[in-house]
Parts: sequence; structure tokens; C-alpha cells
Amino acid sequence: MVVRVLALAALLTCGVRRVLGDGNGGPNNILLILTDDQDQNLGGMTPMTKTKSLIGDAGATFVNSFTVTPLCCPSRSSILTGRYPHNHLVRNNSVAGNCSSSAWQSDGELGAFPVYLSKRGYQTFFAGKYLNQYGKKEAGGVSHVPPGWDQWHALVGNSRYYNYTLSRNSVEEKHGNTYPDDYLTDLIANRSLQFLDNRSPQRPFFLMLAPPAPHSPWTAAPQYSKHFNDIKAPRDGSFDKAAKDKHWLLRQAINPMTNGTLAYLDNAYRRRWQTLLSVDDLVEKLVRKLDELQELNRTYVFFTSDNGYHTGQFSLPIDKRQLYEFDIRTPLLVRGPGVKPNITLKAPVLNIDLAPTILDIAGVDAAETDGRSFLPLMAPSLRNGSARPFFLVEHTGEGLSAGDPSCPERGPDMSQCFPDCVCEDSLNNTYACVRTLDGHDDMQYCEFADSESFVEVYNLSSDPHQLENIVKKVDPAVLETMNQRLIKLQSCQGAVCHALST
Ligand SMILES: *[C@@H]1O[C@H](CO)[C@@H](O)[C@H](O)[C@H]1NC(C)=O
Ligand SMILES: *[C@@H]1O[C@H](CO)[C@@H](O)[C@H](O)[C@H]1NC(C)=O
Ligand SMILES: *[C@@H]1O[C@H](CO)[C@@H](O)[C@H](O)[C@H]1NC(C)=O
Ligand SMILES: *[C@@H]1O[C@H](CO)[C@@H](O)[C@H](O)[C@H]1NC(C)=O
Ligand SMILES: *[C@@H]1O[C@H](CO)[C@@H](O)[C@H](O)[C@H]1NC(C)=O
Ligand SMILES: *[C@@H]1O[C@H](CO)[C@@H](O)[C@H](O)[C@H]1NC(C)=O
Ligand SMILES: *[C@@H]1O[C@H](CO)[C@@H](O)[C@H](O)[C@H]1NC(C)=O
Ligand SMILES: *[C@@H]1O[C@H](CO)[C@@H](O)[C@H](O)[C@H]1NC(C)=O
Ligand SMILES: *[C@@H]1O[C@H](CO)[C@@H](O)[C@H](O)[C@H]1NC(C)=O
Ligand SMILES: *[C@@H]1O[C@H](CO)[C@@H](O)[C@H](O)[C@H]1NC(C)=O
Repeated sequence: MVVRVLALAALLTCGVRRVLGDGNGGPNNILLILTDDQDQNLGGMTPMTKTKSLIGDAGATFVNSFTVTPLCCPSRSSILTGRYPHNHLVRNNSVAGNCSSSAWQSDGELGAFPVYLSKRGYQTFFAGKYLNQYGKKEAGGVSHVPPGWDQWHALVGNSRYYNYTLSRNSVEEKHGNTYPDDYLTDLIANRSLQFLDNRSPQRPFFLMLAPPAPHSPWTAAPQYSKHFNDIKAPRDGSFDKAAKDKHWLLRQAINPMTNGTLAYLDNAYRRRWQTLLSVDDLVEKLVRKLDELQELNRTYVFFTSDNGYHTGQFSLPIDKRQLYEFDIRTPLLVRGPGVKPNITLKAPVLNIDLAPTILDIAGVDAAETDGRSFLPLMAPSLRNGSARPFFLVEHTGEGLSAGDPSCPERGPDMSQCFPDCVCEDSLNNTYACVRTLDGHDDMQYCEFADSESFVEVYNLSSDPHQLENIVKKVDPAVLETMNQRLIKLQSCQGAVCHALST
């Protein structure tokens, strides 16, 4: 069997580049809402009825949206720079792995897309979780405000809902646990509404809102804390399935899961949904405000998440960091000028495409990104484009040499071991995959950097839940093609990545 040479995407972007605008020559406004750990595959969007209606029904729903790396800090760094992790070099959620490190601050952060929007004349506003280590002493403290931002309300450290610290334009601001004053999702909404009220109407604006939901500790607003009491995590095709033919870490999972773990993950699932109800309110408030200010028809609104999530798939209790669909697929909804209402788009798009898409909307031809603008895909009346046939997903496994402090009995190099001491990451959960999705083939090929040089291959056309690793069955010529593509993708930069993805 031979994998076809992919001709599908041969259409090149052509024609005169139009300066997008509101008819009066000014660029359009942009609002980016980025949630934390919201899955696409396991019902993550189900509770967000207003968001689906106000953004999805008014614009495009991307059904094949992926992160190139399923972990918060590397993914957020990819969103900001439009680059793969092997180019921005943010490998994990700690400063040692370049999360908000001085290396990041003197490289990736200086070339992040908000810098270019600001130079283009946009008024810029950020509120919420930036990068997991942001604001900590070892990352420069709260006085460090990344370039490009006029207003900065960034959370110190990882997602919380109460009892957190913000950098409010470089000044420390501490918050307690009083709902009307402190609930972070609501505070993000309120401050962004104030920013819109006080903006200069002559200039376009960019807002990036990054609420903590639905990340742990899953603290719901009081009015939502009793919702979804009868909801359980979906028992989908890979739920609690043994992973005998999968990589080392998955073979360590306890299968079947204990009743304690089931109760734990069902509770997590329910509480994740509860926290999303406040994000749904945030979206509604923002869209209504834009409408009231008569800015809605010249604003692009993006709604997405940094990575997916799992609750019980392959007997992994809760987390992300895996190569499977549930962790790498993300929600993505976009409305805006030229985007037809209520359309479903199947072309694969990546988190590294957000920066070039946003810059494209702003009419900036600047940063060399690994991703590509998907504006032509969603607004073909403006300019035509093409879909990419395959792309890279890469993750560097985490694990301390002393093991996970809460479960040292699991041995060295392990991480995220809970509940029942099932570890969700390890140093050798380090992998790179080629994900092919070209309208004909729907495949995934992954290589691990572990002592077995483990390989996993899935044919998602026949096996959407990735139950069977077909590495031993598939034609060696297919493996060879995939391996060659992977080698090229793993070292690609900018134009080389583009050439590989057309
Ligand atoms: C947007 O709406 C405003 C107010 O309703 C209207 O004046 C303007 O022409 C509209 N702009 C576009 C680009 O449709
Ligand atoms: C962090 O970034 C610096 C410079 O960008 C790089 O030299 C270093 O190797 C990176 N660290 C990791 C763990 O990739
Ligand atoms: C916030 O801190 C207060 C006081 O220390 C504590 O009682 C409360 O449980 C904390 N709440 C959360 C959600 O962490
Ligand atoms: C947000 O604004 C609303 C309406 O003014 C107010 O009731 C609420 O207490 C505010 N919440 C926060 C966290 O600022
Ligand atoms: C786990 O729960 C199931 C269904 O509720 C029950 O039948 C089973 O006995 C429980 N197992 C243990 C070990 O408690
Ligand atoms: C959106 O499209 C779907 C079918 O694709 C249709 O069922 C639904 O009614 C439409 N919604 C709106 C608001 O037009
Ligand atoms: C994009 O392609 C479609 C179909 O081929 C064509 O009808 C449309 O005019 C093109 N749009 C532009 C802006 O070239
Ligand atoms: C993150 O990456 C750095 C650089 O490779 C490494 O030193 C550190 O141990 C990693 N952190 C964890 C928690 O694995
Ligand atoms: C993965 O790492 C663990 C901990 O160092 C080790 O025990 C195990 O043998 C490794 N497995 C593979 C396949 O590399
Ligand atoms: C994948 O599955 C589809 C549907 O069963 C089949 O047509 C195709 O040949 C398979 N591809 C490979 C590479 O096995």
C-alpha cells in the first residue's frame, strides 16, 4: 500500500492581498478568548450554549482544530508565537523548561503577535492566565509586563479562581475569596468591559481573555455549584480500555479503574462543566457589549482552548499530555467580517495558526511563523487558501528524578501521579507524531524517545478511538513515508514548515 502523493492542497494562496477593514480603511478589532484545558472530544463545549450560539451560529465552527503540543505552557507559547515547541523552546510548565523563563522573555516573547498588533496601532488588553510560571520571582516577578500590552491583568502562576495574585500593569494585586470581588472569570469579564468603555474609538483593539476554567481546582461560581448533579464523564469508546499495545506509561495504568477513581473523575468532569458556565456568561457579556458599542460587525471573535483533556480514557484518570485525539483536539469557534454564519469547517487548523491569522486580519506582514493564516479558509470571499494535509504534534515528557513526591513508590522520572498513584506523565513520555488528515487518509504516526523507541500508528478512519496500534500490520512503506515526514517536520522552521504543509 502506498500513501498517495498529496495533491489536494496544491492550490496556492494567490491574488492581490486585500487590506481588510471596516470600509473606512481601519483594521478590524480582535477578541481572543482562551480557556484552560477545555476538551473538544468529551463534551467540553456542551455546557456553553450561549457561546455556541453567539459565536458558532454567527460564524465558523472548526471541527478539526488541534494543538501542536498538549500541555498548557508550551501550547500557550505556541499560540503567542505561531511556532512549534522545537522553535520557541518552551518544553514544559516549569521555568527550567523555559516557561516564562528569561530565555523566553528575551526571545519568543519579543516576537509574540501582540507586539506587532501594538506597533500596528492596536489598543491591547490582557486578562487572566498567561503562562504557568508568570509573575513568580524566578520568572521576573509581577513587575515584568511582556511588550505589546497597554493593559495587563495577569494571573501569577497557574489557574485559580480565588486567593490569587495578579500583576495589574506591573503592580501586585492580591485577591481573596469573596465571590463579588474576586471570582477570577468574572473579574476578567468586568475589566475587559471597562477597557472597552474607555477605549479610544479611533483605533482598533485587541483583547486576549484567558479565564482559568475549566482547569483544576474547578471552583464554580456559587450560583452554578449545584449544576449538572446527574452528569458523569462520558463512557466513550476508549473509556477504561486497557492499553496493552501502547507506550510504556499507559501500560502502567490500573485497569479497570477503581471505584474511587471513577468517583473522582466524574466529580472532576461535573465541576469542569460548572466552571465553564461562568465563561459562557463572559462570552455573552462581551458580545453584547461589542454590539452595544456598534463594534460587533467589525470584530473577529475567537474562542479556543490551549489543549484537550481526558477523563478515564485508556484508564488514565484525568489530565492531558497524551498524543491521543482527546488531548490534542481543541474547540475553535470564530465569527467576524467575511465569515459566513453557522458554517462548519473541516480543514485542519492548529494553535500555531492563530498568530498568523490574527496578524493577517490586522494587515501585518511580520513575524515568520511556523503556522499559516486560516483567514482564507473561513472568509474565502476575501482571499482563497488551501488546507494542510499533515502536521506535527510534539511533547517533552515531565518527571523529576526523585519521582512524584506524592507517589515515590512509582519510581524515578514520573509526574502527575493521582489518584491511585496512576502517573499521567514521565520523562520518557516524550514523543513526536505526524497527524495526517487530508480528506483521504486519517492517520497518526508517533515515535517515542524511550528505551523501546516505541511506535504507535492509528488508522482513525476505521478506528476513531485509537484502540488498535497497527504498527505491526501496516505496510512498511507507509511507515517509511511517515518517518521521513516526521524527520522533516521536527526540524522545520517558518517557510520550510509551510512548504511541508501545502
Ligand atoms: C456596522 O454596524 C454599524 C451600526 O449598525 C453600521 O453603521 C456600519 O455600517 C456597519 N458596518 C459594516 C462593515 O457592516
Ligand atoms: C530554553 O531556551 C534557551 C534559549 O532560547 C535554549 O538555549 C535552551 O536550550 C532552552 N531550554 C530547553 C529545555 O529547551
Ligand atoms: C481562600 O483562602 C481562605 C482563607 O485562607 C480559605 O478559607 C479558603 O478556603 C480559600 N478558598 C479557596 C477556594 O482556595
Ligand atoms: C463584576 O461586575 C458585576 C456587575 O457590576 C458585579 O456584580 C460583580 O460583583 C463583579 N465581579 C467581580 C469579580 O468583579
Ligand atoms: C464498585 O462499584 C460497582 C458498581 O456500583 C459495584 O458493583 C462494585 O461492588 C464496587 N466495587 C468495589 C470494590 O467496591
Ligand atoms: C445552523 O446550522 C445547522 C445545520 O448545520 C442547523 O441545524 C441550525 O438550525 C443552524 N442554526 C442557525 C442559528 O441558523
Ligand atoms: C475563491 O474560490 C472560489 C471557488 O473557486 C471563487 O468562487 C472565489 O471567487 C474565490 N475568491 C477569491 C477572493 O478569489
Ligand atoms: C522541564 O524541563 C527542564 C529542561 O529539560 C528539566 O530540567 C525539568 O526537570 C523539567 N521539569 C519537569 C517537571 O520535568
Ligand atoms: C521509562 O522510564 C521509567 C522510569 O525511568 C523506566 O522505569 C522505564 O523502563 C522506561 N520505559 C521505557 C520504555 O523507556
Ligand atoms: C484505513 O481504514 C480505511 C477504512 O477502513 C481503509 O480504507 C484504509 O485502507 C486504511 N488505511 C490504512 C493505511 O490502513
